[in-house]
Amino acid sequence: MTLSTSVHWLRRAQVEKFAIGAFNANSLEQMQAIVLAAQEERAPVIIQVSHNAAVYMGAGNRLAGLRLVTAMGKTVADMVDVPVVLHLDHGGEMDLIQAVGLGFTSVMFDGSNLPFDENIRTTRRLCEIAHEAGVAFEAELGEVPRAGVSGEEEGELTDPGQVAEFASRTAVDALAVAVGSVHALRQKEIALDFALLDAIHAAVDVPLVLHGSSGVLDESVTEGIRRGLCKVNVATQLNGVFTRAVREYLAAHPDAVDPRKYLELGRASMIGQVRERIRLFGAAGKAAA
Ligand code: G3H
Ligand code: ZN
Repeated sequence: MTLSTSVHWLRRAQVEKFAIGAFNANSLEQMQAIVLAAQEERAPVIIQVSHNAAVYMGAGNRLAGLRLVTAMGKTVADMVDVPVVLHLDHGGEMDLIQAVGLGFTSVMFDGSNLPFDENIRTTRRLCEIAHEAGVAFEAELGEVPRAGVSGEEEGELTDPGQVAEFASRTAVDALAVAVGSVHALRQKEIALDFALLDAIHAAVDVPLVLHGSSGVLDESVTEGIRRGLCKVNVATQLNGVFTRAVREYLAAHPDAVDPRKYLELGRASMIGQVRERIRLFGAAGKAAA
């Protein structure tokens, strides 16, 4: 299928209380894994590519990376007959404008490090550009921290007193909220702050997005979906299974030289993990109706 917008699916997820899985890709094999898993589960799916992934895909040339990602995204979406969204994850202003021009169907502007009013002004301006092109728009309020080598960076929980004003002044289609998750954790150890999520959900009608799901306990993810999360981002968990499969093959075959032998194992293990996440999020079968 041609690439789809996420707006319809976010709204449907909100009504039916499931979440659309948004899976990060850093390579062609990972993009293929995402759409093939969605096809198996008859689910709508989001392939998302971050600024850093675009730089990597372009071998250091970010714009070339975005172009390549667009071409690959359109091509892998054509391999399947379930809706596939191509989303820019944690984009900056330049990434976002270029992604919209190239044919991404959804974008995220990450203004989480900006003061509230500046985040609103920039988000609103970029949101208008995206909407004029028919592209869905996600913004972040609060800041989901990132686990680093030297410990966790500071984040900032979303202030439920700010969400209604933010949503109405920006017209975003989806809002990423900081409700206790942390990016890039390798173990599932976090329980989300449901009191905070409920307060945010009560204040706005905008579909809510969970970032940093790899470190969140499964039962907390599913409870969060029941309480208003409509899009769940997954990256570290997928990179983990992909890399583990490659590592195991290379350990068992130290003389191997053909990259297809281990990359196809990485791809296969990621298909399994994405399928399992899609089922957990309640999105399996949603593309069938
Ligand atoms: O934007 C990407 C996600 O928030 C992924 O976070 O690597 O902790 O799953 P994660
Ligand atoms: Zn994120």
